[in-house]
Amino acid sequence: MRSNKIYILGIESSCDDTAASVLCNGEILSNVVANQAIHEKYGGVVPELASRAHQQNIVPVVDQALEQAGISASELNAIAFTQGPGLMGSLLVGTSFAKSLAYGLNRPLIDVNHMQAHILAHFIEKEGYEKPEFPFLAMTISGGHTQIVRVDAYFKMTVIGETIDDAVGEAFDKSGKILGLGYPAGPEIDKRAKLGNPKAFNFTKPKVAGLNFSFSGLKTAILYFVQKQLKENPEFIEAHLNDVCASIQYTIVEILMDKLKLAVKETGINRIAIGGGVSANSGIRAALKQAETQQGWDTFVPAFEYTTDNAAMIAIVGYLKYLEGDFADQTIMATARLKL
Ligand code: KG4
Ligand code: ZN
Repeated sequence: MRSNKIYILGIESSCDDTAASVLCNGEILSNVVANQAIHEKYGGVVPELASRAHQQNIVPVVDQALEQAGISASELNAIAFTQGPGLMGSLLVGTSFAKSLAYGLNRPLIDVNHMQAHILAHFIEKEGYEKPEFPFLAMTISGGHTQIVRVDAYFKMTVIGETIDDAVGEAFDKSGKILGLGYPAGPEIDKRAKLGNPKAFNFTKPKVAGLNFSFSGLKTAILYFVQKQLKENPEFIEAHLNDVCASIQYTIVEILMDKLKLAVKETGINRIAIGGGVSANSGIRAALKQAETQQGWDTFVPAFEYTTDNAAMIAIVGYLKYLEGDFADQTIMATARLKL
C-alpha cells in the first residue's frame, strides 16, 4: 500500500502555455510546458488560436508529466487546475480536462487561482532555496499581470497595488514592437540593455497615486520619441538600439522599485518575493540585490522554471489545499476574471 506519499497533478492553461506537473509532498517530479510558437507572427497571443493549441497539447503534455514522474494516473491523489484568471477559451480546456480526469479517476478536484500560484511557487521544495517567512510582499510581474500583494499566510493574501492599464511585460513587448523586435521582446530588450547606456534617453515615469502602476503612458511616450527621432534620422533605431533598450529597461525597473520601496515603507515588511516572467529580467534582479545590501531587504526569486507560467506552481497550491481538504466539485467553472 502507498503510505504517506501524496501525488498531485497540476494543470495550467490560462494563457498560451499548456503545462502539466506532478508533485509529491512538495517536491516536483515533473514540470512539462508546451509553448505555443504560433503567436509569434501575430506579435501577441491570439485567444482562439491559444485555445485550439491547448486542445492539441493537453493530452500529450499530461502524459509526458506522468511518464517523467514515473507514476500512472491511478496513483494520483488529486487533480489541481487553473480556474482563472486568464483567457476564457484557454481556461476552458484545462478546466474541462481536469474535471473529466478527476471524475474518471474518482479523485478530488482542486481549483487554483493562477495569481495565488505565482506567489505560492516560492513554497516548492528545492534544494538550496530558502522560502520566505510570513508576512512578505509578493510582486508578480508578467505579460498579463503586475501586482504587489501582502501575504500573511498561504491563503491570506491582499492585493495592495496593481496596474491600472498595461502589465509590465506588455510594456516590454509593446516597446519592442515599436523598435521592430520580435515577440515577446522582453528577453531581447534585456539582452541589449546590458550593452547600452541606461541614461542615454530619458522617459518620464508615470505619476500614479499609491501603490498602483500604469504602463500605457510609457508605451506612448516611447512611440512618439521613436517617431520624432526617425524623422530626423531614418537610421536612428539601428544606430541607437542598445541605448534605447537600456533606457527603457532602466525606466521600467525604476517604476517597479519606486512602488516596492513605497510598499515596504507603508507595510513595514521588507521581505520581497518576486514571480512572473519579467522576474527573469537582469535589471530588476540587480536592483533587488542592491536593495538587499543598501536597504536591508530580504529578496526571493524562485528558479526560472517556476517564474514563467508553469504547472508546478499549480501543483504546489493543489498540495497545500489538499492538506486542508479544500476541494472543488464538478459544478466549478473556469472564471476569466477571478480575483485573488
Ligand atoms: O509569466 P510569463 O511567461 O507569461 C505571462 O505573461 O503570464 O511572462 C511573459 C512576459 C513577456 O511579456 C516577456 O516579454 C517577459 O515576460 N519577459 C521579460 C524577460 N523574460 C520574459 N521581460 C523582461 N526581461 C526579461 N528577461
Ligand atoms: Zn502567469
